Amino acid sequence: MPYKLLFVCLGNICRSPAAENMMNHLLEQAGLTGQVICDSAGTSSYHIGEPPDRRMTAAAYQRGLKMQGCARQFTKADFAEFDLILAMDRDNYADICALDPAGTYRRQVFLMCDFCTHHTVQDVPDPYYGGPNGFNQVLDILTDACQGLLKYLVQQLPVKH
Ligand code: 4NP
Repeated sequence: MPYKLLFVCLGNICRSPAAENMMNHLLEQAGLTGQVICDSAGTSSYHIGEPPDRRMTAAAYQRGLKMQGCARQFTKADFAEFDLILAMDRDNYADICALDPAGTYRRQVFLMCDFCTHHTVQDVPDPYYGGPNGFNQVLDILTDACQGLLKYLVQQLPVKH
């Protein structure tokens, strides 16, 4: 059974698809494709069915990262489906937890920045209404967090013989 990661932001067109595509890239480099599966979702319904934001796609492309995806909304069913749910900011975290009032799945929900080892921020800032620099900042923080997350996963995954 593959280990399943779900990255979650508000719109599922900027931060969480960037995290998903970046993580897939790192997993491929680490030879872990197939052992870990990544998906992303938004807490809102604003952009359901849309591809990633073209500003995010352009910033990622500059770093050699190809963006793929189609926005969908986070649902309660995702709690049982995914091993780890990674919220991009504290608002996303609260919105996710609000769908699990009993706290049954709380131990599976993390802030993405919990995995940063260089950045000290708690949130991956929402770049939607800001300038182009915001998208680069998102990618800087996600690079740090995805590397930390990869290290964590390598410790969790069973050794393949
Ligand atoms: P994301 O960015 O949550 O990183 O996908 C946003 C996308 C859309 C909106 C806000 C943030 N919006 O308000 O439409």
